[in-house]
Amino acid sequence: MIPRIYIPGDSGALALGAEKVAKAIASELAERGIEAKIVRNGSRGAYFLEPMVEVATANGRVSYGPVKPSDVKSLFDSGFLTGGHHKRWLGAPDKIPFLAKQTRLTFARCGVTDPLSLESYKKYGGLNGLTNALGLTPAAIVAEVTESGLRGRGGAGFPTGIKWKTVLDTSGDRKYIVCNADEGDSGTFADRMIMEGDPFVLIEGMTIAGIATGATKGFVYVRSEYPHAVAVMNKAVEIARKAGVLGASVLRSAHAFDMEIRVGAGAYVCGEETALLDSLEGKRGMVRAKPPLPAHKGLFGKPTVINNVISLASVPIIMDKGAAFYKDFGMGRSRGTIPIQIAGNVKYAGLFEAAFGMTLGEIVDEIGGGTATGRPVKAVQVGGPLGAYFPRALFDTPFDYEAFAAKDGLIGHAGIVVFDDTADMLKQARFAMEFCAIESCGKCTPCRIGSTRGVETIDRIAAGIEPEKNLALVTDLCNTMKFGSLCALGGFTPYPVMSSITHFPDDFKPAPVRVAAE
Ligand SMILES: Cc1cc2nc3c(=O)[nH]c(=O)nc-3n(C[C@H](O)[C@H](O)[C@H](O)COP(=O)(O)O)c2cc1C
Ligand code: SF4
Repeated sequence: MIPRIYIPGDSGALALGAEKVAKAIASELAERGIEAKIVRNGSRGAYFLEPMVEVATANGRVSYGPVKPSDVKSLFDSGFLTGGHHKRWLGAPDKIPFLAKQTRLTFARCGVTDPLSLESYKKYGGLNGLTNALGLTPAAIVAEVTESGLRGRGGAGFPTGIKWKTVLDTSGDRKYIVCNADEGDSGTFADRMIMEGDPFVLIEGMTIAGIATGATKGFVYVRSEYPHAVAVMNKAVEIARKAGVLGASVLRSAHAFDMEIRVGAGAYVCGEETALLDSLEGKRGMVRAKPPLPAHKGLFGKPTVINNVISLASVPIIMDKGAAFYKDFGMGRSRGTIPIQIAGNVKYAGLFEAAFGMTLGEIVDEIGGGTATGRPVKAVQVGGPLGAYFPRALFDTPFDYEAFAAKDGLIGHAGIVVFDDTADMLKQARFAMEFCAIESCGKCTPCRIGSTRGVETIDRIAAGIEPEKNLALVTDLCNTMKFGSLCALGGFTPYPVMSSITHFPDDFKPAPVRVAAE
């Protein structure tokens, strides 16, 4: 049997040197006259081990990492093609603690299969969900997704089935499925990993959404910073079309569904669903007032489902294994699994898919291993740039939409960014206001003007100018932004600002005290 070597083509792994490793392995194979097949798989998401190279042996996969080009000769000398021992030897990938502790439903194939092989996709359960969906009525598919408890993974946590039902119940000569792959949140990469590592699962999820709602056309709106994801998605769509998964007759059924990949121009606000629709329509991305909801009047004025990549990519497993299976994972009203993206100053950075319910402390300390600098953790920002900063005192908060909301926080797209005790929370609060000022679409006053006034007021606190009065002013301003903004960009910027002030009051003390403390 020809040896099979898996070297990730995932852009996170590439950034860590996977391409050089692939070239070194290819040239070593040629030099030694060994015939082998190199598969460019996605990443399994343990980025602290990337580039992670795997070989298929008679006893299953054996992994090595992080592999450097300079390791390649000695890997061959150690007989790595048959799983031989080496200083980079990690053993069976699914036994690596970071991976073994996960519950992989949405990411089951990511890093395992060849992303552009439909055969490989089917071998690992791909298309089962779509096949089952084709045997059901649209209403029954919607009921199954509703019953699973799946909530939008883009940020707001809105029940996916209810959104789909609104589109199903709205008549239109044309309906659309729009996939939000703008992934603008800090420290997040789950959407990118799926698009690069298991693109067919997104295609399958979108096709099911189309059949369930009567939409015949889908668009994936990908941020321009993701060129690898765009390339893989485009190739995957072509392959799916040729194989009859997409097209006039989906898997030879009476349903038509096709899709296109579109690239954004780079604005955080274009991740907001209505600004995204404007951008897709070729306009400048401005937030639209609601109503009408996109489900009634969305892309080009037609009924439109807008869902995040992970929401859509979670649908095939629900339609394959059933709502009851999926719903069995999780806690409270947060059902199923969530791909938590651990980033920032953390020892073990990567993607960790788990059922809802783990505490923040377990994720940061046990899974993430604490900070990379070895210093104490000071704060963790959960949910992107609009998420709250949580201190260690809140580490018992379970990963659950309602539990986070009860602590004035949000899960968002499940990105967590870890900071050690050198972080200055006044600077982080200022950054939140500045970010909002830069990214504001400008449509409403609390966000457009408030964010700039926020930066100025925080600067005055930092300079020790009437700190108490200015702190009260920031609090007042945050209330105006929270309740007066048209969308969550202005409306949620108060979360990082107010959580910094509430949980880290010492960082907002007047300048002489701050300087003395430093
Ligand atoms: C400023 C802003 C940026 C957003 N960025 C994203 C994004 O990058 N990706 C995403 O899926 N949702 C983003 N959202 C949420 C979307 O508006 C919308 O709720 C989501 O696409 C719905 O899909 P879901 O129900 O599957 O989560 C953003 C919202 C706001 C207010
Ligand atoms: S809150 Fe900001 S981004 Fe949202 S509509 Fe208002 S100005 Fe635009």
